[in-house]
Amino acid sequence: MSDFYSNRIAILGIGLIGGSIARGLKSANNDIFISAYDQNDEALRQALSEGVINQISTLEELARESNILVIALPPITAAQLIPKLAAVADKHCIITDVASVKSKIMEAVKEQPLSFQQRFVPGHPIAGSEESEFKSSTSELFRDRNVILIPHTKINPKALAVVNELWRKLGANILGMELAKHDEVLAMTSHLPHLLAYTIVDALVGQQQSEDIFRYAAGGFADFSRLASSNAKMWSDIFVTNSEAMILTLDSYIERLQEFKKYIANQDHSLLMRKLSNAKDVRDDFLQKYLGNKVTTQSTATNINFTLAPGGVVKGDIRVPGDKSISHRAIILGSISDGVTKVSGFLQGEDALNTLAAFQEMGVTIVGPSNGKLTIYGVGKEGLKAPRVPLYMGNSGTAMRLLCGLLAVQKFDSVLTGDESLNQRPMARVIEPLALMGAKIESTEKNTPPLLVSGRELKAAEYDMTIASAQVKSCLLLAGLYAKGETIITEPAPCRDHTERMLEGFGYVVTKQHDGRKTSVHGGGSLKAASIDIPADISSAAFFLVAATITPGSKLILRHVGVNPTRTGIINLLNSMGANIQILNETNVGGEPVADLQVSYAALRGIEIPKDQIPLAIDEFPVLFIAAACAEGETILRGASELRVKESDRIEAMATGLETLGISVETFSDGICIEGGNFQGGVIDSFGDHRIAMAFVIAGLRASTPIKISNCANVGTSFPGFICLANKVGIPVNQVTEEQ
Ligand code: S3P
Repeated sequence: MSDFYSNRIAILGIGLIGGSIARGLKSANNDIFISAYDQNDEALRQALSEGVINQISTLEELARESNILVIALPPITAAQLIPKLAAVADKHCIITDVASVKSKIMEAVKEQPLSFQQRFVPGHPIAGSEESEFKSSTSELFRDRNVILIPHTKINPKALAVVNELWRKLGANILGMELAKHDEVLAMTSHLPHLLAYTIVDALVGQQQSEDIFRYAAGGFADFSRLASSNAKMWSDIFVTNSEAMILTLDSYIERLQEFKKYIANQDHSLLMRKLSNAKDVRDDFLQKYLGNKVTTQSTATNINFTLAPGGVVKGDIRVPGDKSISHRAIILGSISDGVTKVSGFLQGEDALNTLAAFQEMGVTIVGPSNGKLTIYGVGKEGLKAPRVPLYMGNSGTAMRLLCGLLAVQKFDSVLTGDESLNQRPMARVIEPLALMGAKIESTEKNTPPLLVSGRELKAAEYDMTIASAQVKSCLLLAGLYAKGETIITEPAPCRDHTERMLEGFGYVVTKQHDGRKTSVHGGGSLKAASIDIPADISSAAFFLVAATITPGSKLILRHVGVNPTRTGIINLLNSMGANIQILNETNVGGEPVADLQVSYAALRGIEIPKDQIPLAIDEFPVLFIAAACAEGETILRGASELRVKESDRIEAMATGLETLGISVETFSDGICIEGGNFQGGVIDSFGDHRIAMAFVIAGLRASTPIKISNCANVGTSFPGFICLANKVGIPVNQVTEEQ
């Protein structure tokens, strides 16, 4: 059904949650038809008289006559009703629930015919209140709150998408969670706090003179015990149904309590202080990150700096995080494909996570990431929903430009925005060719974000790119998937081709001509879900390739690195400077070449960088400049003006830093000349650019005195865990958080 509001909704249980769902849907669109059943006649009559529901039905009618049935009952009751619902429900009816424990319900669901299982979507709004019953229901209960959807192996992604939309209409944010994790996680984050609230009241009641005690109880007691005002029947149901996970959680909690008892008995003030401040920091961080609250912290530290002791030797066998370019593309293509896409090796850095959040906002259910694994329940090419808020692309030019192409051809409008750096980066390179296809995108006068993208039908176009940009090519390919006719893009020099390879992996035909320089797609096809194993990012590996190369006595192995020939410029250039990098165990993983890289120390000599290598090493120049500074003679780069419009002006940022370290450089509008020399220490500004910060960390290995690098918070955009991995292989770098 294309318009959500033409669905007939049935609500089984018109208490706080069921009533709030009905109210929320009615206030979004009063025309929606809602029927309800409950054992509480009074609640039903009130809902009907207030116009919150259209009809009171029997359970059988409810199941037979609706398209979407929401079971808003406690878990035991819900589980008991499953067989009955399976017997009477219409064969197209999508059924969902709201219970806080899933194990019993899913046991019942698994006993039912496959077609029922496929249509059953476990759901759980994290949005209750200590109030209960219909009288407390409100249309806003779920606005800006999280709702967890818990897909199981039999689920039909289309049923999942419908339930996702139901919660979107109520203003909720939808997160996916693995079924196996749900009850365990909820035992810790919700069930335990409820039990503790009940327990503290119970403990006080048990005291002699409890009346007196209550008289003196103040805000702390009221705050802490708030949850004990919740519905007792529902919560005893939950504790019992989730007993297995509850017992584990309680055991570990009781252990903690015993520990705290010991600290207090021992008068261990300093240990207590440490434990309590740690808990405070964690809670403040949680409020800020996940609930968007402003918290008063003792230190409002936001500036992250790196400090480096000079010297070190680089040794080890490591795997760097997943490829950033491929991670973005996995989310994008997985989301618009039909079926379930499983991804491993996903980069859990801020950039890719922002892309993930953007697609969640557009109605895609995504489970994870957890240890680089995620599952994307594709909504198909026409299944994205209009974002309700501007899509925040953080620091990522790739996400902004690729999404620009995809969104320009949707049936809805959207706004794309980014951080301070991204909001200064040029977007004409995608706006202009998209305009040739009929797109309407508004930007600032300087052609920078925010971008207002008015979605519409596009016609295919033939476009000769003036710069060798994979972002522009990918943007146009994504628009081309929808445009009428054949979109043909010519690149002036080969640039990364992950989009093309992944499209083929999703069964979409991409044609290459003229040595791969002409790429074309026909609009109108569809994508079929696939499995994606994302290799380690060669752009992150590059820092370690240079680290081992410039440091006498070093030897390192980097595992499972993506060695797509459109990305291996760094290996080609370092080897032509005299480096010793060997490519071992080459294989192909899902259309992308992957290998282990072995690198050891070698003396380098300066070179003139061949122009054809520039797009193949475009992100690696900051660290290549560090290698150049350690080489004998001059290294000259020309024809690389693109470096001036990356996350920072990388020519200027690197030149300034290298000069601080005592290296002679000359800059040009399109490049740089670096004279090899010796590094002294100093204070370097990374200008908030992740790759500049990491490049200067590598310089520390050859510096005579300490180096301090400021403004390093953005390292998390592409390389979470960089400091840890650097330390692990012997690079003596520390992260210092400074108050501003
Ligand atoms: C990227 C393409 C390159 C690169 C960027 C990632 C991509 O940008 O610098 O980090 O994933 O397509 P350009 O397309 O601007 O060269």
